[in-house]
Amino acid sequence: MAAKMGSFFFLFAIIFIFCCKFTPTDAYDSLDPKGNITIKWDVMQWTPDGYVAVVTMFNFQQYRHIQAPGWTLGWTWAKKEVIWSMVGAQTTEQGDCSKYKANLPHCCKKDPTIVDLLPGTPYNQQIANCCKGGVLRSWVQDPDNAASSFQVSVGAAGTTNKTVRVPKNFTLQAPGPGYTCGIAKIVKPTRFVTADKRRTTQALMTWNVTCTYSQFLAQKTPTCCVSLSSFYNDTIVNCPKCTCGCQNNITRPGSCVVPNSPYLASAVTASEDKDPYKPLVQCTSHMCPIRVHWHVKLNYKEYWRVKISITNFNFKMNYTEWNLVVQHPNLDNITQLFSFNYKSLTPYAAINDTAMLWGIKYYNDLLMEAGPLGNVQSEILFRKDSSAFTFDKGWAFPRRLYFNGDNCVMPPPDAYPWLPNSSPKQMKSNHLHRLIALFLTSLTVLLVSI
Ligand SMILES: *[C@@H]1O[C@H](CO)[C@@H](O)[C@H](O)[C@H]1NC(C)=O
Ligand SMILES: *[C@@H]1O[C@H](CO)[C@@H](O)[C@H](O)[C@H]1NC(C)=O
Ligand SMILES: *[C@@H]1O[C@H](CO)[C@@H](O)[C@H](O)[C@H]1NC(C)=O
Ligand SMILES: *[C@@H]1O[C@H](CO)[C@@H](O)[C@H](O)[C@H]1NC(C)=O
Ligand SMILES: *[C@@H]1O[C@H](CO)[C@@H](O)[C@H](O)[C@H]1NC(C)=O
Ligand SMILES: *[C@@H]1O[C@H](CO)[C@@H](O)[C@H](O)[C@H]1NC(C)=O
Ligand SMILES: *[C@@H]1O[C@H](CO)[C@@H](O)[C@H](O)[C@H]1NC(C)=O
Ligand SMILES: *[C@@H]1O[C@H](CO)[C@@H](O)[C@H](O)[C@H]1NC(C)=O
Ligand SMILES: *[C@@H]1O[C@H](CO)[C@@H](O)[C@H](O)[C@H]1NC(C)=O
Repeated sequence: MAAKMGSFFFLFAIIFIFCCKFTPTDAYDSLDPKGNITIKWDVMQWTPDGYVAVVTMFNFQQYRHIQAPGWTLGWTWAKKEVIWSMVGAQTTEQGDCSKYKANLPHCCKKDPTIVDLLPGTPYNQQIANCCKGGVLRSWVQDPDNAASSFQVSVGAAGTTNKTVRVPKNFTLQAPGPGYTCGIAKIVKPTRFVTADKRRTTQALMTWNVTCTYSQFLAQKTPTCCVSLSSFYNDTIVNCPKCTCGCQNNITRPGSCVVPNSPYLASAVTASEDKDPYKPLVQCTSHMCPIRVHWHVKLNYKEYWRVKISITNFNFKMNYTEWNLVVQHPNLDNITQLFSFNYKSLTPYAAINDTAMLWGIKYYNDLLMEAGPLGNVQSEILFRKDSSAFTFDKGWAFPRRLYFNGDNCVMPPPDAYPWLPNSSPKQMKSNHLHRLIALFLTSLTVLLVSI
């Protein structure tokens, strides 16, 4: 009896771990498990009343970038610090500096808000890696532009590494919500090597802050959906209805826009005033700003071919440097990719089923706002792996898709276009079997890891 009770409790514990491990607010992303933005403060010099620090943000995320209008960084000072001056960035407000007489600080707020300067800033207000309008590229697409720096002179602060207090409560907006930052940790001082590699200097003191992203903090509704089709079945499986919202002409008139309507321009302006980050979408059954269409196009003896199209339904957004992450078992043997860039992502060394696709510079790296130009497309040629390849049971469709790092909602598996002669019942039960198998495997893994 007691043993039975014990195992019951154990099962409960496991279910508890399961439910809480995958709560929506969890920032963990299994395709980029280490992805984060690290903010590093290097104290370069002590001053009579404080210090000068170079602050650098590194975007260590494989596929998530920050596009215009860029990042906003905030923190709370631990004591009564002020910012005497900044190079390569600025605070949005000066705050109350009435305590100061002759020289006014740049900012006296307890919780300053920092924004990047724009490209074209005069050279005497720049430092290396600054002034990109807050844009941070993703680590895979453009590692050279995945960092952003500014310099800050802090006053009324500690003047030795014993008396300095690290700022608290870091916040990062990109530009809306989504990131959560940890506490600043004092780490080993950064070492700098000169260009000729003949001399190394080091920071007087360094601290790091790590920020991670959660899609569920960023927006409650999805922003992207997937539609499917194939050469072997005429059915086009559209995005699930109401994926990102529902058309509702009665309670929310104007929640979407019909293309070419005379009201379009005024609707864009009006919604710009209300919430600049909220998309204004074209009226569709799914109401998503982005739709990814996966078409299984051709079947050759040794190869098969897929066409991918990404359509922008958002009238308020040009997606610059967009990217798509695709998970499909055959991505380990991609033979050719047309008109997109490609890199295989291997978050777990043994599994090679995930790839990142993005546009070619000056050709299709800009996904234009909704309208005739608001789409990009490409084709992928796969080499068949004879042991796994099949058109049956929806195998040819992707397992997972992300647009700009946000999950794209797939149609339910029993709606996938199926091969003539195959029954959906069989597929459903197979799906169930797979789910059970997955559950059992996870259980085993958990048991082993406990
Ligand atoms: C942040 O990302 C870097 C680079 O991938 C990694 O080395 C580091 O461990 C990450 N930090 C955290 C706290 O996950
Ligand atoms: C502070 O500076 C002293 C030497 O001045 C050094 O020994 C110590 O490691 C430093 N502490 C930190 C946290 O950097
Ligand atoms: C941290 O910052 C947030 C947002 O600026 C604010 O609401 C919160 O009160 C701050 N917490 C502390 C401890 O300062
Ligand atoms: C602090 O951040 C820098 C830059 O991202 C990194 O090189 C360094 O390893 C980090 N230190 C620690 C202890 O995480
Ligand atoms: C809303 O109006 C559009 C066009 O006037 C129509 O196509 C659509 O079906 C309507 N939606 C609902 C939910 O009534
Ligand atoms: C998108 O880019 C085009 C061409 O550069 C521009 O005319 C348009 O205003 C932009 N749209 C938005 C929403 O920024
Ligand atoms: C994964 O597959 C791609 C495409 O075939 C290949 O280029 C890459 O080297 C593979 N990576 C690993 C780690 O096997
Ligand atoms: C790709 O497929 C070919 C032919 O089936 C096979 O010889 C090769 O080993 C495969 N490559 C990978 C990385 O699986
Ligand atoms: C195509 O797939 C759909 C399911 O999406 C199914 O209802 C239909 O019968 C299939 N067509 C043929 C010719 O098998």
